[in-house]
Amino acid sequence: MKPKYKRVLLKLSGEALAGPKGFGLDTDTISAISKTIKECVDMGVEISIVVGGGNFWRGRTGESMDRTRADHMGMLATVINSLAMQDALENVGIPTRVQTAIEMKQIAEPYIRGKAERHLEKGRVVIFGCGTGNPFFSTDTAAALRAVETGSEVILLAKKVDAVYDSDPNINPNAKKYDKLKFIDVLNQGLGVMDSTASTLCMDNNIPIRVFGLDNPDNIKKVLLGEELGTLVY
Ligand code: GTP
Repeated sequence: MKPKYKRVLLKLSGEALAGPKGFGLDTDTISAISKTIKECVDMGVEISIVVGGGNFWRGRTGESMDRTRADHMGMLATVINSLAMQDALENVGIPTRVQTAIEMKQIAEPYIRGKAERHLEKGRVVIFGCGTGNPFFSTDTAAALRAVETGSEVILLAKKVDAVYDSDPNINPNAKKYDKLKFIDVLNQGLGVMDSTASTLCMDNNIPIRVFGLDNPDNIKKVLLGEELGTLVY
């Protein structure tokens, strides 16, 4: 089957890597995600990945801390996740490169856009660690930025919740699910799909986001094949 997209950016939340444990890394979950990514790469799709760090640390968890320092800790958490993903992807036979927004050359390549694009052209998966490298920006914003920079056609936002709703479906059983939504409505209604910086960046650069649940890792492949899972923000 022919994939709908040639180049995509996959955003995985940290929690997605924690699996049912809710904290840290769950090997079975990561391995299942990697197997699906392998199938997508084999279909010829060029994939880069941004991972969050919430399975270890969130900048806003350290409420009493200096925010910049707390965000730096979050960036380091994304590096742990990036290396775990790299290991799992290489175990299923996908050449993978990790690039970090903050230089840590002994551990990973520094982020260089041209090199990242070259890796993608060669069929390597590129994982971007450290978010944008700046405090006060989320890894969603990093996903938006890297998607724009690398000319990705869409952002696949794989989350714990399976779509965008008008209120929290875990709290409100009558929450309304959106199939499609404009960025401007996400911003006006303050919907918690991603933060406003990330939404604005995607809106200004015409990059749609497909929000879907990662309860079944096969969803990544389904979306690439054109199945309209979850919510499309455009
Ligand atoms: P091409 O030049 O396209 O063939 O890419 P390549 O990544 O295979 O070549 P390169 O020689 O740049 O890298 C070889 C290996 O070294 C890869 O695993 C890279 O991820 C790794 N590497 C390259 N630069 C750095 C760096 O600054 N730090 C670390 N830790 N690894 C690096």
